[in-house]
This record gives sequence, structure tokens and C-alpha cells, in this order.
Amino acid sequence: EQNMTTLIMIFGATGDLAKRKLFPSLYRLFERGRIANRFAVIGVARRPLSNDQFQQSVKDSVTSALGAKQNLDQFASHFYYQSHDVTDSNSYIALKKLADEIDTHNHLEGNRIFYLAMAPEFFGSIALHLKADGLTNVKGYKRLVIEKPFGHDLESAKELNEQIRTAFSEEEIYRIDHYLGKEMVRNIEVIRFANAIFEPLWNNRYISNIQITSSETLGVEERGRYYESSGALRDMLQNHMMQIVALLAMEPPISLTTKEIRLEKVRVFRSLRTIKGEAVNDYFVRGQYGEGEIDQKKVPKYRDEPMVNNESNTETFVAGKVMIDNFRWAGVPFYIRTGKRMETKSTKIVIQFKDIPMNLYYRPEKELSPNLLVIHIQPEEGITLHLNAKKAGSHLDAQEVKLSFSNTGTYAMNTPEGYEKLLFDCMRGDATNFTHWDEVAYSWAFVDEISKVWDQTKGDFPNYDAGTMGPKAADELLEKDGFFWWPINNLDVDNCR
Ligand code: BG6
Repeated sequence: EQNMTTLIMIFGATGDLAKRKLFPSLYRLFERGRIANRFAVIGVARRPLSNDQFQQSVKDSVTSALGAKQNLDQFASHFYYQSHDVTDSNSYIALKKLADEIDTHNHLEGNRIFYLAMAPEFFGSIALHLKADGLTNVKGYKRLVIEKPFGHDLESAKELNEQIRTAFSEEEIYRIDHYLGKEMVRNIEVIRFANAIFEPLWNNRYISNIQITSSETLGVEERGRYYESSGALRDMLQNHMMQIVALLAMEPPISLTTKEIRLEKVRVFRSLRTIKGEAVNDYFVRGQYGEGEIDQKKVPKYRDEPMVNNESNTETFVAGKVMIDNFRWAGVPFYIRTGKRMETKSTKIVIQFKDIPMNLYYRPEKELSPNLLVIHIQPEEGITLHLNAKKAGSHLDAQEVKLSFSNTGTYAMNTPEGYEKLLFDCMRGDATNFTHWDEVAYSWAFVDEISKVWDQTKGDFPNYDAGTMGPKAADELLEKDGFFWWPINNLDVDNCR
């Protein structure tokens, strides 16, 4: 593999994301020789730290994420620190000077990655300063990696986009959606386009509905302030869930280039049925958790979490029915749900095929099960295909069997974390697994219609107990179409029933 030459500036280097994800991911790239000697990182944050102190915090982060590791000192010696005021030109001028020195000393060819891993309110002004104060004026490439949230709605996203576009072209902007770094999310297109047996069935003639669940057991932790202004709709659905929908629904691209894949994803977004006004509550359900139990421990209701308004109208759960009005998908509901403080931590996709035209086989006490293709994204990674087969020893009774492929066990120890892949992609200049502006804009436009309605009316909260799969209305959403959520806990990769 290539050995990357680059200088990365991480804004927000003392923050949680840098410590939990970015430093350990960089270490793994280092360990694999992908960024051997010609890389440097400048950590940028407000608080004063010496290089030594910063390097120590880098080493500590790696150890706490990955355990004891070799060559840590050598790794950390590539890290520098600058205390920085993001609103002050002098800070940027000093940063440029430091970057140029490090570059010359390490022969980094003028390549720069600017990674914004901090409070979103500064994204725009940082980008403007980077340009105005000369940091984007480089010999090599310049790339901007930007964390979510990308705006709060379409309007603020547009404003932010305009600001960063003054300093970076669309090709230079890498908007992170960390779900696109997950192994099995990336696998969706391979499963679809590298097998003869799925693609012919991948349409409204054979698929009855698709269910995407991303449930979490965590509450809002210390993120109350951010979450109050976001909620499940903006935090999870606008980005991660809609990206999964796009990957499942897109047409085969003519090639695997960034451009072609984006084009196909955007076509999915353009085909989304707009749900607005009164229809919103027919298609979408919101929830907020009350008290309950997680792992046999009592947990407080959302409204009692730190930094949360005790009459908060913020949703911690959302379920919805997304319709894609195009030739392939007309009539096939994509049900999505995501929430905090649910029963299990799990992300799964269930593709439910239509019933066969006529059932010839007896299955004790039950109808024949429909075929399901389940894509397990986390915590287990794998695929299962649910079929009907003859029950051994019986006359001609049918029973459900599963064909399973499990990544866990085979690759688990080596499965690189999402961030590692995304960072490496960015260094290689591959933006395929980042979100394009058009995708962001369309999905905000879609989500804005929902939040418009929800912001104006009070939810009947709390309406689900912590430790459950969400409010009853989320079940009714499917029941009225004659479906039900396939119980997540019965869908494990390994146990054949
Ligand atoms: C983030 C959200 O984007 O995704 C968090 O802001 C959420 O609220 C997280 O907890 C879930 O990610 P994962 O990888 O744990 O499923």
C-alpha cells in the first residue's frame, strides 16, 4: 500500500473525538506502515499545552483505546501542538509558520489536511480564516475534513457550505459520516453488485419492505446541550440512516468512482417522497425516553439528564416510513428507526421478500416465513439469509433455516475502525465514503419538513421506557401496512433456529 505524506492539523485536538477516535486511528495507520515517517500532526486547541504534554495525551489515548502498544514514543514524536484562538488571525499566522517549518523539516510536500473536530459553530469562520491567513495556499493538496453536524437545517447548512466553499472546492471537502466507515455499510454495495442472485430481486416485484434499525442503549451522556438542539431526527436520521437508505436503493453505478456513486445516491435522494404538513405524523413517529432499566440498572428519564430542559420537546427516538418514488421502488416502504436508551445496541437491515404466490407446505402452527436477507452492521458483522427448508424427518413440513456469513471471529481482530478507513481514504484523496453537498442538501430538505411540524407541536413525552424498543406508535406504523418490526434479538448471525 502507499505510504502517505501529509501534514494534518486537527482543530479540537484536546476533545473527545480526537482522543477516542483520531489518535488511535492514526496509530493504527502508523502501525501498518501506511503513514510511516512522512507525516506530522499539529494539534490545535484553545488550552495551553507544551508539545510534550500533548504527545503524552496522544500516547495515553492510544493506550486507553488499543491497550499497550509498541513504538509509541516514535509515533508521538510526529505530533506538535499549538494553542489557538479560532477567531484570531494572529493564531492562524503562527499556525502557518509552524506548519511550514514542520513541512520543510519533514519533507511533507506541502500537503495539508485540516480536520475540524470541534464545536460546529466555528466551522465556517475557521474555513474563512484558513484562506484569509494563507494556510490554504500550499504547494501540495489541501483537504478539509469536517465533522457533523453539517448545519441544523437546510438553510444553515447552505450558509456553512458557502463559507467553506470560499476556501475549498467541493472535491477538497470531506464531510464525515462515520457510518460510511463501517465495514458492513461498505459491504452493502458489494453484496448487491457482486452477486447474481440478489440484484434481479432487488426491486418492488420481489421485496415487500425494508427495515433499518439503529438502536442505542446509551442515553445522551454529557451531550445534553448539543442533543437538545438536535434530537434523533437531526442527529441520526438526516445523516446515517438516510445514507444507508441511499446505498440500499441506488441503481448500480457505471463504475466505482466517487463521481458515479454520488450521482446514483443523489438520484435516490431526488426520488424521496416529500412528507409534509399533516402527513408527517402518518409517516413519522417521535419518542422520548422515560425512566427505565438498562442492563438491570435504573436510568433516569431524558428530561432529568444533565443540561436537558425538564420539559424538553426533543425526540430521542424516531421511526419513519420512507418512500422512494421511482420505477424500482414504487410501493416498497423503507422503515427506519433509531433511538437512545433502547433495548439493545444494534444496527441491522432487514430486507423482507414478498410471500410466494401459494403455500404448498405445512409449517406447524405458522405460515411459511418470508425470505429475509439480514445485513448485520453492528455489533456483529455479517449477513444472514432466511430460507424455508424441509424439516428433517418430517413428511414435508417446512421450517425456517438460516445461511450465515459472519465477519466476527474471522476478521474481528483486524477489522479497522471506521475512522481509520476514513482518514486513510482522505489521505488517498478518495471521497467516495464522504457525503457530497447535494446529498446533504436533499436530506436536509426532506428532514426540514418533518421538524417544521414537530417543532410547532408538543410531543406526548415521555412515551417509551428506557430499555425498550420505543413507543407503541412505532409498531403501529408498520401494523397499519400489514407488517411488523422483525425482532432484533432473534436475528443474530450465528444461531440457526
Ligand atoms: C453519532 C451521534 O453520529 O452517532 C451519536 O451523534 C450516536 O448520538 C452515534 O451515539 C452512534 O454511532 P455508533 O457508531 O455507535 O452507532
